[in-house]
Amino acid sequence: MYHNVVPFTLAGKTALVTGAGRGIGRAIAEKLAEYGASVMINDLDAAPAGEAAEAIGAKAAALAGDVTDPAFPQRLVDATVERFGGLDIIVNNAGYTWDNVIQKTTDEQFEAMLKIHLVAPFRILRAASGVIRETAKREAAAGVRVTRKVVNITSIAGTDGNPGQAGYSSGKAGVVGLTKTMAKEWGRYNVTVNAVGFGLIETRLTQPLAGEAASIDVQGRKIAVGVQPAVLDWVKKGCPLGRTGTPEEAANAVLFFCSPLSDYVTGEVLICGGGLHF
Ligand SMILES: NC(=O)c1ccc[n+]([C@@H]2O[C@H](COP(=O)([O-])OP(=O)(O)OC[C@H]3O[C@@H](n4cnc5c(N)ncnc54)[C@H](O)[C@@H]3O)[C@@H](O)[C@H]2O)c1
Repeated sequence: MYHNVVPFTLAGKTALVTGAGRGIGRAIAEKLAEYGASVMINDLDAAPAGEAAEAIGAKAAALAGDVTDPAFPQRLVDATVERFGGLDIIVNNAGYTWDNVIQKTTDEQFEAMLKIHLVAPFRILRAASGVIRETAKREAAAGVRVTRKVVNITSIAGTDGNPGQAGYSSGKAGVVGLTKTMAKEWGRYNVTVNAVGFGLIETRLTQPLAGEAASIDVQGRKIAVGVQPAVLDWVKKGCPLGRTGTPEEAANAVLFFCSPLSDYVTGEVLICGGGLHF
């Protein structure tokens, strides 16, 4: 039987999305707001973070800052709770690639990948643990069950491995361990903790490398990003759906884990990659 009802709403929920100034994070923030959530938008780059919040309107705020700065995660969590009065959804999305074969990978490079993809999500969840536990205890005492959501972003480079990405794939595999452990620690507080891993989604990280390598500015370093056109062709041919994905399609997979539709799913990894595996 078909019925014409909206399957859920996120009205009254507060979400925190890191790396939401552009790309997939921005699409996630927009999607969550579209379904009614208030959203704190974080990004390293202040201008795109501000623009993303402005485009959403009154239900969004921006806090620019570096999630790998040890002091910043607590500031970000506190600012979110102060601004919107709670914290119901955390999406650890901020990230970038810094690739090379292992013999050309420096300690700094490898450690930077662990810091952004694994240590930062750990610190954000630790920073949020106070408000999560206290709120859940208050709700339990009042006899209500409210399910909160954590979604950590991983990659098929993390679940399958990918040459040239020792650091990136280690960070993205590590966050799966964090996800599964936090699902077990926070089940008692009705928090579902899941990961979404992407294949190839069209963002600045996966732009075709044409001639000169594109580069991004991260903490004062210029880092080359982009994908060889031959690899993009291979993805299009090798992936069952025959194409790369859009940020909106990526955000839809994250939305599932942020919604009541996934209230009985925790500690899982959903791959959103058109069937692609490395
Ligand atoms: N695009 C893909 O195909 C793909 C595939 C697998 C996984 N991912 C993952 O998806 C996430 C989003 O990537 P994207 O493709 O949208 O890239 P993107 O470059 O378009 O967006 C990532 C955002 O994260 C921000 N960021 C980077 N370092 C930060 C820091 N230290 N603190 C705060 N913000 C920071 C950047 O400024 C940027 O706005 C990343 O974790 C990435 O590893 C992407």
